[in-house]
Amino acid sequence: MDLAERARSALSRAAIRTQLRSEGPPRTTRENLVEWAKAHLPGRKMVVVSNREPYSHQRVDGEIRVVRNAGGLTVALDAVMQALGGVWVAHGSGDADREVVDASDRVACPPEHPRYSLRRLWLTQEDHARYYSGFANSALWPLCHNVYVRPRFRLSDWRSYRRVNRRFAEAVLREVGDEPALVFIQDYHLALAAKFVKEKRPDLQVAMFWHIPWPNPEIFRVLPWKEEVLEGMLANDVVGFHIRRHAMNFLDSVAESLEARVDVERLAVDRAGQRTWVRPFAISVDAEEIAALSETADARRAEAEIRSDLGLDGCKVGLGVDRMDYTKGIPERLEAIERMLEKHPEWRGRFAFIQIGVPSRIELREYRAVQVRARRIAQSINNRYPRPGGPTVQLIESNLDFTELVPYYRMADLCTVTSLHDGMNLVAKEYLSASPDLEGALVLSPFTGAARELERAWIASPFDREGLADACHAALSEPAELGRERMRALREVVLRRNIFDWTLDVLDTIVGLDLRTPARDAAQSAVPEAGPVSG
Ligand code: F6P
Repeated sequence: MDLAERARSALSRAAIRTQLRSEGPPRTTRENLVEWAKAHLPGRKMVVVSNREPYSHQRVDGEIRVVRNAGGLTVALDAVMQALGGVWVAHGSGDADREVVDASDRVACPPEHPRYSLRRLWLTQEDHARYYSGFANSALWPLCHNVYVRPRFRLSDWRSYRRVNRRFAEAVLREVGDEPALVFIQDYHLALAAKFVKEKRPDLQVAMFWHIPWPNPEIFRVLPWKEEVLEGMLANDVVGFHIRRHAMNFLDSVAESLEARVDVERLAVDRAGQRTWVRPFAISVDAEEIAALSETADARRAEAEIRSDLGLDGCKVGLGVDRMDYTKGIPERLEAIERMLEKHPEWRGRFAFIQIGVPSRIELREYRAVQVRARRIAQSINNRYPRPGGPTVQLIESNLDFTELVPYYRMADLCTVTSLHDGMNLVAKEYLSASPDLEGALVLSPFTGAARELERAWIASPFDREGLADACHAALSEPAELGRERMRALREVVLRRNIFDWTLDVLDTIVGLDLRTPARDAAQSAVPEAGPVSG
């Protein structure tokens, strides 16, 4: 394709998207995304790469069970891969994962109606401990979240992180062979993967999405291997963040640590003849699929069973759904609930709170500490404020399949998302999607990416116990009609920008890239931007 043709093709992409947004429901559907991919990615294999796999196989009572991982990232990207097909490379973490793969370590997904291929990569226990628990979750995770947990930097963890990133890259290269492909890398576990991919295949288009916050350069600069991490990320053609602030922090970190031309107007970095576009793209969920799941007879039945098991009749139900992580503000939220019950006796016996705390990274002491703290506060609330039907706070510490989660979203009168710091937080969006009846309320931390979009939620800081307690009380007490109006407005935000909009924005930016490399700057004025960005 010559330059003029490429420019025409970019113009037609922009025109199609403008049309999509002005006609009918202003959102991208699964079908739109498929059509777009047919037109703009012909012959190019889609390869998604992440540490966590979307489905794992586990042995339960001698039988192999498939679990759809409930993490926001994997649920959201599973919808994309089901639409587009291709290969997803991820760490095989289920205890029966090896039993179901073929000779190339692949398994078709979703297992009940396959649409794409999951290529599992195996890690030794030592590499998992050093790369995942070590560098990713004891160094990068606390470094990127402003929650005052000190990062731990160990050379052995860093070496393992590098080695594992290279292995992910090798798996990608094997899947791609000599073919053209679009590689889409996810998250802080894989900051170096693009560099290893590009060393062998500089022609491949590679993008990365950083799903957690990016700290300001004052914080980032303490990382002993900051230059290598930044260089690894700049091997991508596009680096995405949920919000503009994190994209700007990243650019500032590059400017401070590397010899590079950082263009804050166009959000781009030029270095060694290569350009990386840095963009905010707010991720979302497959709102329609979640709404449909929440309306099924199974979901209604499951809700009725939970209500009866927990004795919830006549009670308002509050809900928290999180990995048991110190960034999620779980103890802070429970303390606020306790304070609400203290201040508002009318809720005693008439309010129950369910906290689903998915066990997470439990090998790390900070994670065990948050679990112990959450249990202690739950116990204290249950002792101080007993409820006739069952416990006032029910802590469910298990890894629920996504479909098992939906009935909880359905029944919650109040969903609390109280992260101390969070890239986006998809629980907020999942809850809104699963509440088509508009019954409910969302209390949301201002320190989540989601709060930038969901402005009509009850915004309350988890660092302010009194304010959070008051927000929970106000949300539960709001007159029904006003509450429904608020929920309608909030749901609309999620329906208008769903996971397919996010994917299209990211992919459209990558596909438009070859028009906008430094070498072609001269031609750029003839070419429109790749589409609206958000965040
Ligand atoms: O919040 C960042 C994130 O990578 C999510 O995108 C994802 O759902 C979760 O963390 C992964 O956690 P885990 O360590 O359990 O895979």
